[in-house]
Amino acid sequence: MLIRFALLGLPVLAAATYHDDVQPILKARCVGCHAKGEIGPMQLTTYDEVKPWARSIKQAVVRRTMPPWHANRDRSVPFHNDRSLTEKEILTIAEWADSGARAGKPKPEPEPVRVVWSPRPAPDLIVKVPKFKVPAQGTIEYTFLVTPTDLPENKWIASAEWRIDKRSVVHHMNAFIRPKGSSYVKDAPAGVPYVASKASRGARREDEREVDRRELLIGYEPGYAPIPWGKGRAKLLPKGADIVFEMHYTANGTAMEDESELAIYFATEPPKERVLTITPADTLFAIPPGEPGFASHTAATAKRDLTLLSMQPHMHLRGKAYRITAKYPDGRREDLIDVPAYDFNWQTTYFLHRPKALPPGTTLECTAVFDNSPNNRFNPDAKQTVRWGDQSWEEMNIGFMEVTFPAEADPDVVTLAGTTRPGAAVSPQAPAKPASAPRPNR
Ligand code: HEC
Repeated sequence: MLIRFALLGLPVLAAATYHDDVQPILKARCVGCHAKGEIGPMQLTTYDEVKPWARSIKQAVVRRTMPPWHANRDRSVPFHNDRSLTEKEILTIAEWADSGARAGKPKPEPEPVRVVWSPRPAPDLIVKVPKFKVPAQGTIEYTFLVTPTDLPENKWIASAEWRIDKRSVVHHMNAFIRPKGSSYVKDAPAGVPYVASKASRGARREDEREVDRRELLIGYEPGYAPIPWGKGRAKLLPKGADIVFEMHYTANGTAMEDESELAIYFATEPPKERVLTITPADTLFAIPPGEPGFASHTAATAKRDLTLLSMQPHMHLRGKAYRITAKYPDGRREDLIDVPAYDFNWQTTYFLHRPKALPPGTTLECTAVFDNSPNNRFNPDAKQTVRWGDQSWEEMNIGFMEVTFPAEADPDVVTLAGTTRPGAAVSPQAPAKPASAPRPNR
C-alpha cells in the first residue's frame, strides 16, 4: 500500500516492522544512550521496551529533538560525529508508529552499542577523578579538581579517553592541561574537590598568554565517543603540568558515588603536528534584564597556517544560538557551524568530517546570542544584568576549537579578541545568586 505521509510529503511503503526496519535504526542511533545505566530516561533495547514509546519516538524524531544534535546542516560544514537521522530514517520510524508499531518476524536483539575503548591494553597514565558523592536531589555546583602529574619531562598525548563510571549523573566534564606557573585556579589545593570563587576562577596574570594558562585536553558529554586526533598528531603535556578537572554532575533521583577516570595514551614517536585547543572568549559583556536577543562577539585570528579539527560552542542557561564563521584573507566568508537552538544540556564537540585549512590572517568569528527574557524557560532570573561567570546562572561565550600546526612551532598561533583586558572577567558588580537556581531539564 502506498500512503502519502502528510508532514514530509513523501510517499512511503506502509510495511515497516520493528525487527526489519526500526531496530537497526534504534541500534545505530539511540541505544548508545537508551540502554541500562546510560543517560537516556528509558531503555530502547527490545521490542517490549520500545512498543509503549512508539508515539513519543515518532514525535521526537519528526521534531528532530532526538537524537540530540543541534547544528543546522544547511549552515554548517559536515561533521564526523553527526548523529542526526536521515529523512528516510525519520520516515521509516514515523510510518512504523502510524501503522500500529508492529513487531514483525522476531530476530535476536543485538547487544547494545557501547563506546569502544582504545584497543591498547593499558593506558600510559590513568588520572582518577576523585570519588564524588552525587546526592539524589538538588543543584550541584561546578567542582574543580587539581591533579599533579609530576612528570619529569615533556610528554606528547596521542589520545585520551574518559572512562565514565555513573553515566546517568555525569552532565559533563572537562579536563584541562595547566602548565607550571599558570594563574588558572591557582588557589585550588591539589587532590581536593574545590568550588572556585568567581575571582579565583577568572583571575589571570597581566601578560599571561592563553597557551601558558590552560588548554582544554578533552571534554565529555552524554553520547560521547572518543575521536582520535589522527596519526602523527598529539597534544603537549608539559613537564610539571597539572590536569585540572571541571566536573558537572546532575542529580537524577538516586544518590550515587561516581568514580570516573581519564585514560591517557602517550605518542610512541614525536608527532608531526601539535593539536592545540584555542579558546576565544568574550568576558566583557553585560546582558540587560529582559533582553531576548543579546549578541556577544569574540574571535581568533590565525597568525600562521592552521588546520581546524573541531569546535565546541559554550554558553550557559541563557544561551540561545551560536555561530562560528571563518573570514578568509581574500574576504570570503564561510559558516562553519550554526546552532540555531542552543541547549545547555548538550555540550557537544563537533568534529569536522574533513579538517579545514585556515591560511594566516583567517579570522574565526564566534557569535553567541543570549535570551535573558522570561520567555526563555531555562532563565533563572530575567531581572538580572548577566555577566561572565562560572555558574549556570552567570554566562559565558567561549568557542573552543582544536587546531593543528607543525609540532615544533611557537604555540602562540592565534590573536584572540574579547580577552583584551586581562582580569576584566572579574566584574565589580557580580550578579546576585538567585535563591534557587533551577536544574536544567534532564
Ligand atoms: C546522546 C544521547 C541520546 C541519544 C543518542 C538519543 N537519546 Fe533520546 N533521550 C536522551 C536523554 C538524555 C533524554 C531525556 C530528555 C533530554 O535530556 O533531552 C532523552 C529523551 C528521549 C525521549 C523522550 C522521553 C520522554 O520522557 O518523553 C524519546 C522519545 C527519545 N529520547 C527517543 C530517542 C530516539 C528514538 C533516539 C534515536 C533515534 C534517541 N532518543 C537517541 C538521550 C539520547
